[in-house]
Amino acid sequence: MFNKLFKKKDISTILNEAKDHNGGLKRNLTAANLTALGIGAIVGTGIFVITGQAAAAYAGPALTISFIISALGCVMAGLCYAEFAAMIPVAGSVYSYSYTTNGELMAWFIGWILILEYLFACSSVSVGWSGYMLSLLDEWGIHLSPLLSYATFDHTTEGWVMTGSIINFPAVFIVAIVSAFLVGGIKQSAFINNIIVVIKVGVILLFIAFGISYVDTSNWTPYIPENTGSFGEFGWSGILRGAGVVFYAYLGFDALSTAAQEARNPQKDMPKSILISLLICAILYIGVTTVLTGIVNYKELNVAAPIALAIDHTGEGLAWLSPLIKLGAIAGLSSVILVMMLGQSRIYYAISKDGLLPKVFSKVHSKNGVPHNATIFACIVTALFAGLFPLHVLSELVSIGTLMAFAIVCISVLVLRKTQPDLKRPFKTPLVPFVPLLGAAICVIQMLALPWNTWSRLIIWSVIGLIIYFTYGIKHSKLNN
Ligand code: ALA
Repeated sequence: MFNKLFKKKDISTILNEAKDHNGGLKRNLTAANLTALGIGAIVGTGIFVITGQAAAAYAGPALTISFIISALGCVMAGLCYAEFAAMIPVAGSVYSYSYTTNGELMAWFIGWILILEYLFACSSVSVGWSGYMLSLLDEWGIHLSPLLSYATFDHTTEGWVMTGSIINFPAVFIVAIVSAFLVGGIKQSAFINNIIVVIKVGVILLFIAFGISYVDTSNWTPYIPENTGSFGEFGWSGILRGAGVVFYAYLGFDALSTAAQEARNPQKDMPKSILISLLICAILYIGVTTVLTGIVNYKELNVAAPIALAIDHTGEGLAWLSPLIKLGAIAGLSSVILVMMLGQSRIYYAISKDGLLPKVFSKVHSKNGVPHNATIFACIVTALFAGLFPLHVLSELVSIGTLMAFAIVCISVLVLRKTQPDLKRPFKTPLVPFVPLLGAAICVIQMLALPWNTWSRLIIWSVIGLIIYFTYGIKHSKLNN
């Protein structure tokens, strides 16, 4: 029994499986496509919503420093991801890396955690999309019935309650549209993503370029507001807490590695794309935060649409930019959903190929070359969560799942360097063991800072995962049978 649980997959087996017609998947993605997919997955709710709240509640103008700290943590994890993505360029990402380093049970567990990350990231961003869409429709004089505008359930201090709404229709709608594109094929999905990335990066650059002349430098003094006496409320501890919160804004580069099997030249392009997309996003975020906290005093930024608020502050000056920002946000959130959904379906595909989930999920459409069943399944589950539950319940679990995945990737780099030092590594994480150890430490510290509530839900999710493995996976595992 123990042998089974810890049996490891040989890297050459994984690579050979992938070579065999590439499992039916098509290698259509260029380096530029991959970088755009990265930016498409990263820039979203984090910059369009969370920035303002984090500046107002934790860090003030010094949120720029939080963004730099958070970026450093992500770059460490990104470098470790890059080593694996170049060495084992297959659809399963960390799940597959773990199969070779930690054995089957751990691989299943991490796969299950990745499902948690992508499922809840997709559904929470869809709910965010719904909010922006409803506000734009309102501006155009179109009012959707409240019965179709909100989640069915909410979790309040009194526990679970019914909101009176039937379903969050716009959230379900965007999930369905995005899934339809994904079923259509990776090439067209990448094309749509490229257009969206140009739009959203474009509006962000417009905001920085035109907003800078409206900056009132007195808003930057004090740059680091004095700590209120409680940990995490301004001062250096606030900058740290701010870093933990804006970590969400960088998520998504890891989803890129699930598309490795569809990349033309993964060995060279994967590491490059992961690091370049992270760098571009870090620069954009620092630019936006600088201008945002310069136009509006940080104390006023605790709103759902901080960038729109900053534009309103400029009076008539930038009024023309306001609808563009909303459209940019709507487009931007769609591509986050697209890439996270891609990630989710590729994880189902990879796990199912190993027999740990039913075979139907690894069927690849003969014409479109995508795992259509896995995509449709991802669509149904995501739409259910997005339609039924509110944002705060959904987004809570995203960070903890991701941090855990990042920490495991960092440690796995060290394990594999020790156990299989001679493997061909087209990209090597620099400064080993310093980078992986620091990366893992940053992730674990951020996890420990999360509330017990989030931990308890993570434990429930993990128990469900273990039940599925011991009742289904272990009996159908290809490696063990
Ligand atoms: N990084 C993604 C966002 O900010 C999750 O929406």
